[in-house]
Amino acid sequence: MNIDLDNNKQTTKSFMEILEERLIEKFGKKIVEYGNEPCNYHRVTDANGYATYTGPCGDTMQVWIKVSQNVIKEIGFKTDGCVFTRAAGSVLTELAKGKQIEEALQITPLQVDNDLGGLPEDHKHCALLAKDALGKAIENYNDSKDKIR
Ligand code: FES
Repeated sequence: MNIDLDNNKQTTKSFMEILEERLIEKFGKKIVEYGNEPCNYHRVTDANGYATYTGPCGDTMQVWIKVSQNVIKEIGFKTDGCVFTRAAGSVLTELAKGKQIEEALQITPLQVDNDLGGLPEDHKHCALLAKDALGKAIENYNDSKDKIR
């Protein structure tokens, strides 16, 4: 029997495509997409607020903010954490961008969790790590602002 290998290549999904489909089934599209390709995943070179924070699980998140007229104009983060941490950092930074700093401080881990469609029970703390890291960056901004006065 002859097998048309070229045709077979076109119709068969790649292993990676199948894996991604399974992950999306299990964790949801947003978590998988942001986990693979996080947004705002960069340093902000002219930031005026910065923090590096390590959560109880041992993962660290760095957050940079550029605040102007009390509004977070730019925000970026980096982490050595898992896909859920990258997804949580992506959503949190998206929610915080363009907000006044007081409003950004009101963002809750539950909001981040809901926006992602629900983190797994054993990764709920990833949203808390992101929120705490942002809180520390805002604290750093407030402290340095006070020193300049
Ligand atoms: Fe530690 Fe996600 S596993 S913050």
